Amino acid sequence: MCGIVGIVQQQETKIGKTIIEALTKLEYRGYDSVGIASIFDNKVIITKDQGKISEVSERIDVNSIKGKIAIGHTRWATHGPPSKENAHPHIDCSGEISVIHNGIIENFQALKEELLNQGHEFQSETDTEVIPHMLEQLVKKEGISLKDAIIQVSKRLEGTFAICVVSSLEPDRIYCAKRDSPLVIGINSDRMFCASDIPAFLSKTRKVVLLHDDEFVTLTSDGYEIINFNTLEKVVRKPHTVSWKPEMAQKAGFPHFMLKEIHEQPNSLADYIRIQQPALTRIAEKIYNSEKIFLLAAGTAHYSTLTGESLIRKYVKKPSSAIIASEYESIKSLIDEDTVILPVSQSGETMDTIMAIKSAKEQGASILSAVNVIGSTITRYSDEVLYLYAGPEIGVAATKTYTAQTLAMWDIGLELGKLSGEIDNSEYTAARKLFQEIPTVVKQTIVRNESRANHIASWFAKKNSSFYLGRGLNLQTANEGALKMKEIAYIHSESYPAGESKHGPIALVEEDYPVVFVSPKDHTHSRIISNIMEMKARGAAIVAVIEEGDREIEEMGKWKFEIPKGYSEMLSTIPYIVPLQLLAYYTAVRKNLSPDMPRNLAKAVSVL
Ligand code: M6R
Repeated sequence: MCGIVGIVQQQETKIGKTIIEALTKLEYRGYDSVGIASIFDNKVIITKDQGKISEVSERIDVNSIKGKIAIGHTRWATHGPPSKENAHPHIDCSGEISVIHNGIIENFQALKEELLNQGHEFQSETDTEVIPHMLEQLVKKEGISLKDAIIQVSKRLEGTFAICVVSSLEPDRIYCAKRDSPLVIGINSDRMFCASDIPAFLSKTRKVVLLHDDEFVTLTSDGYEIINFNTLEKVVRKPHTVSWKPEMAQKAGFPHFMLKEIHEQPNSLADYIRIQQPALTRIAEKIYNSEKIFLLAAGTAHYSTLTGESLIRKYVKKPSSAIIASEYESIKSLIDEDTVILPVSQSGETMDTIMAIKSAKEQGASILSAVNVIGSTITRYSDEVLYLYAGPEIGVAATKTYTAQTLAMWDIGLELGKLSGEIDNSEYTAARKLFQEIPTVVKQTIVRNESRANHIASWFAKKNSSFYLGRGLNLQTANEGALKMKEIAYIHSESYPAGESKHGPIALVEEDYPVVFVSPKDHTHSRIISNIMEMKARGAAIVAVIEEGDREIEEMGKWKFEIPKGYSEMLSTIPYIVPLQLLAYYTAVRKNLSPDMPRNLAKAVSVL
């Protein structure tokens, strides 16, 4: 996820300042580097650097960027770490065609090879840079107009993209094209905007046109023209006026980032699946060939590693343990050259995890990590990294990064199963097919359960204490559900293996005491039923997360959440957490708490 913006206006102004103001409103989409391409004196002028917008705009002289036309970009690294070279805009060899991009070009390796053979020189590691060189090839070498070149290139790009192009060849316009990444136009009497999201220009205009997939736009200071780049047919779409308040607009209309991020999960999971990561096979091979494996993480990330631990034990039958990073000392004496350490982290900056990795590295262990933030400290200590591609997570409570971490664990698990022969070819193919379906299942899960979560929250919000119980893989779903409730709704929530609850915790249960059961229809089902009955007999109010149509458990529960069929074991830890994220969110809201900024917590915990 990155933020892009473009402005084309009738008067020459200090346009750099306006671009920076607009990018600041998009910083929630990415913040590792910033860049502007403006046209001045019929030349493309690129100003860019690594860092947050506030840092970069202090270093560059924003007021010196003048002109009638400019595009700007705030980056969230995917291909290539944060650096000045990898910052957008990117430019062709002649320095005349400049491009900003939000999305992922899946076929960039093949395109890059073709361009290298044609003599193009690359300055970055990004997928985006193929675009200006492809345009240059068509415009300069084949004599095609820039507009036709962008249309041709858009058809060749695989993956997701919203691109804006400026060029000294046609210095009065911005060309844009999009597929699957957002792009909107903003209309003013004397200037036009394009951007990833409405907040970029909301202080200047409320008149907007939303672009659809496979559309190409020509933006000049006095208007816009949209065509479909496949059919070349003209699209007539009138602007509409938005009524959002600026602070709501940044959250795409959601009242909080946490809810927005819960809703983003179908897309973030699809992005993870979409991007082929060569590191995956290398990680699986190294785990397969190692003697012992320790997964290291903190908080929510730790719960995702419990899925990893189970899958590694199941598929390679080797000692594997998920260790809380701050408890690393307990395994330190076991670490040697035959050890694999698998750290999992959203931020890549959690100090407990970093210190443990540093120590393990000194003792010769291989560090194979799964991290969301590219270029973060953990990635720099790692021998291999599997990226989570969940985009920036602003809410303090991890939601979309937990499901991405869990998916990454399944991804590694499946490769291990194939390597060890525990999964045969047809099982592997079926599992990969299920992988592809997971974004849709998560979407359906949100749709089916959101209003229920809101409703149940009105009852939950009055409680002081609760249990979250699960068995097998979904014990970690119970753990994570309870952590969410604690973190943002401040309700004491204890997670326990369901079978263990009768050995003590059950003493706390009294009339209408909330007990959340994560109960998929897998091998744990009949035992979970017994545990539900034990709790019910003591007056507990059961909140059951069940597979749709599971009447047996439904009848025992006071409340239910339903998950689509087919995910009872394989991948179940992903959809089953979603209603519990929603329940925690709505409970916090019912209690008038701020879900995005819970007390005493920080997004990245950089203290020991
Ligand atoms: O950035 P990390 O994934 O390493 O962070 C680990 C924990 O600090 C984090 O998951 C924390 O528990 C969150 N607040 C959970 O919502």
